[in-house]
Order: sequence, then C-alpha cells, then structure tokens
Amino acid sequence: MEQNGDGKPKKPIIFDGMALPPFPPLVKDAKERFEEIRDLPCREDDVLLVIYPKSGTHWVWEIVCMLLKKKAEYMKETKDFFFLEAIPDMSVVHNLASPRPLNTHVPYRWLPKQHIENGGKIVHVLRNPKDVAVSMCHHFNNTREFGEPLDFKTFYEKFFMGPVQLFGGWFSYEKEFEEAEAKDTGSAIFTLHYESLKKNPIQETKKLAKFLNVDVNDELIAEIVDKCSFKKLKEANDTMKDIIKIIPEEMKHEGKDKEIMSKLYRKGEIGDWKNHFTVALNEHFDAMFNEEMKDSKIQVQYE
Ligand code: A3P
Repeated sequence: MEQNGDGKPKKPIIFDGMALPPFPPLVKDAKERFEEIRDLPCREDDVLLVIYPKSGTHWVWEIVCMLLKKKAEYMKETKDFFFLEAIPDMSVVHNLASPRPLNTHVPYRWLPKQHIENGGKIVHVLRNPKDVAVSMCHHFNNTREFGEPLDFKTFYEKFFMGPVQLFGGWFSYEKEFEEAEAKDTGSAIFTLHYESLKKNPIQETKKLAKFLNVDVNDELIAEIVDKCSFKKLKEANDTMKDIIKIIPEEMKHEGKDKEIMSKLYRKGEIGDWKNHFTVALNEHFDAMFNEEMKDSKIQVQYE
C-alpha cells in the first residue's frame, strides 16, 4: 500500500464498494473483519450503535452508556474500546460484561446477523450530510489517515463525492438504513437526529431512555445531558479518558495521539457547513441530494 512519509497508508482500503480507514484489522484483511462482525455471537441485551462516521457516535455512545448504568458518570474507556471494525481482536468484545454498548460504522447489510435475529436494539444517529462532510474533512486532516491535509473542496470532490466513498457514502448508507427501518416491525431500530439532540437534549434523551427500556428520573436525565454536553465531554476526553491504551502500535503518531483524539471533539455545532461550502459546492450538493434521495422520506436539518 502507498505510504506517507510517516509510514502510514496514503489511500483508503477498498472493500465491497466502500472506502475504509486504515484501522489495523482492516489493513490486515477487511473481508475477514467484516465477516467476523457479521458472524459475531450476540447477547439479547447488546445495544449496537450503528452510525455513519462523523454523525455524533462518541456523543451518543456516552449517553447510552450512562443510561444503561443509570449513572451520570464517565467510564475510563472511550467508545473505541467497543468499536467493532477497529479493535485489535474480537476477543475484547467476547469478554465484556453485559449489557455491551457496541458501536460500528459498517452499513446495515454487514451488521451481526444474530443481533438482528434476536431483535437486538440498534441506535442510529442521522446528521445532516453537509456538516458530516465538513467534520470528516477535519477528521482526516487531523488523523492523516488518507494522506496529507486537503482543502475542503478537494476533499469533497475526491473523497466525500468521489467514486468510492467512506463506508459506501452517506446517501447509500442512509438509504440502506431507511429500508431496514421500514421493515423493522419489532421496533428494534431507533433513529436520533444529531440536530434534534442538540436542540432538545432532555426530550431526545428521554426518548432514547424509553427505547432502551431504562427507567430513569428527570433529575438523572438532566445530569446525563449536562455531563454529555460538548464542553464537558471534551474536557473528560482530554483529562480522564483512557485514550492511548486502545490505539494499536501501527496507528500511533509519536506523542501526538492525545492531541489528535482531543481534536475529534472539534466544534459540535449545527451549520458549520456554511463556513466551508461555496455557493457552487452547495448547489452541487443540493442537486445530488435531490437526485439520490428522491424516493426517500429522510428529513435532514441543515440548521
Ligand atoms: P464536528 O467535527 O462538527 O465538531 P463522531 O463521534 O461520529 O466521530 O462525530 C464527531 C462529531 O460529533 C464532531 O463534529 C464532534 O465535535 C461532534 N460531537 C462530539 N460530542 C458532541 C457533543 N457532546 N455535542 C455535539 N456534538 C458533539
């Protein structure tokens, strides 16, 4: 694989029509890891967060963990300890205590079969794709997973709208999910909108608690919302999370891991796309959206 000066891969891995980040298990054998995920032995009380990258996975994972524990306390672990396509080996997941708050970016068709057969709970977060594109550009410029930093327009054309997109691209990922949700007669899937959670955190967190069947009072909901606000979560991430332990040797950036992980909590706002999309890019995106999503009922909130 082509490499940067620092020895890191320069190009995404391509598998099943998807561009994938160079997580060591995917670099080793993406097909093998995807099949391991699909064949994962599941428990009835597993909760699976299935979220397109840069849509608020870290945030909602922290809320889910607090709800499941009924405590507004941070865990030492970050979501990356439970991240199916990135963890060094699957025995990590086999040995976790229940209920397991697992998370993944793989598209619906690759989810653990047993979890779906069990009617296991799936939490999905949908964020407007313009903010996703901006967040993703900053992410890859920060981690350098796809090579040297790119300006937004180049990133948008090359990767976000390129011929092979991250995890198959936002459009196909969300349409596949929408189709699964339409067939989900057992109400196993719960979709939260990033923007709704940001605007009405108490109300949306209550809905999430109800979906997870956890009985929590208003006081605890308010505490969880406060502990999971952008500012406090970023602070917890910077000061008490066990960040380095999970990063495999191959992905370490001499002494820079803490800084890189800190930048993952970047702005946490709705509408930063307005600072990055030119009028022409915006028109291009809207035309693509109208074409790609013409049969979809998905509503996105751009502000
Ligand atoms: P920005 O880059 O727009 O700031 P993921 O966890 O799926 O990688 O998503 C990362 C995005 O979620 C980043 O967006 C990050 O700042 C944002 N985020 C993380 N915690 C948040 C919070 N508590 N409230 C709002 N946004 C949050």
